[in-house]
Amino acid sequence: MKISPVCKKPGVVYLVGAGPGDPELLTLKAYRLMQEVDVLVYDRLVSREILDLVPSGMRRIAVGKSAGHHRVPQQRINEIMVELALSGKRVLRLKGGDPYVFGRGGEEAEVLVEAGIPFEVVPGITSASGASSCAGIPLTHRDYSQSVTFATGHLRDDSLNLDWPALARAHSTLVVYMGIGKLATIAEKLIEHGRDAGTPVAVIHRATQPDQMVVVGTLETIAGEIEAHGIKAPASIIIGEVVALHGKLGTLEQTLPELVELAALSA
Ligand SMILES: C[S@@+](CC[C@H](N)C(=O)[O-])C[C@H]1O[C@@H](n2cnc3c(N)ncnc32)[C@H](O)[C@@H]1O
Repeated sequence: MKISPVCKKPGVVYLVGAGPGDPELLTLKAYRLMQEVDVLVYDRLVSREILDLVPSGMRRIAVGKSAGHHRVPQQRINEIMVELALSGKRVLRLKGGDPYVFGRGGEEAEVLVEAGIPFEVVPGITSASGASSCAGIPLTHRDYSQSVTFATGHLRDDSLNLDWPALARAHSTLVVYMGIGKLATIAEKLIEHGRDAGTPVAVIHRATQPDQMVVVGTLETIAGEIEAHGIKAPASIIIGEVVALHGKLGTLEQTLPELVELAALSA
């Protein structure tokens, strides 16, 4: 990376999680930093309602990217953070969910260390937690699931080389991020490696936001369900016996005015 000569005391970069979208799920620390820094560098998944909380005069740089379509290459994002900090700015690098869960926060922190820039990581509520609570699906439950795994459906080399035997274990919850485009293959692989085809699956689109949608099916039916309902990214996929609780615990969510419940769990 080409770095401009240092002429000032470096600023600081805050790698901050903005949570799944509902502004009330921001941490107090994230909110405070949003009022105090000099520049905001933010991702596509940061909701409009959250951006509205940033002072109107603050400089903002959008570096949003979607799967396969990097609007600003990661290398350039790294350079932007480093250049701003070396010019003495306090930079808020705001990301959806938690910066250290499939958010490239680790890669960006490494770059900052290598450039000698002070930084701090502020955690956010990750999508799995937002999706689970708003769909009425506990990620663990003593009767159904003793462990939970977060996996990505979008690998760097575009393959789906995951540890399928481990992910297919019964009585364990699997949450797949960035998996909506590969849901049919994910379901097939899990069945092939021994997970029951009738295992319930929920897809939660834009969890915690006014237009969130929840679609429920089984490993066998879920790909058809999401196609039928036109569900697109961003969405989190929850797979496992705990999804059966959606029928019982998902009632509170139905009182939220704008929630659209698209499908009930097939018996
Ligand atoms: C690049 S990853 C970022 C994850 C983020 N760092 C986190 O902790 O949630 C993007 C993926 O997060 C999930 N995601 C982000 N926001 C979401 C939301 N509001 N509802 C459901 N899933 C979401 C989707 O699977 C999306 O493809």
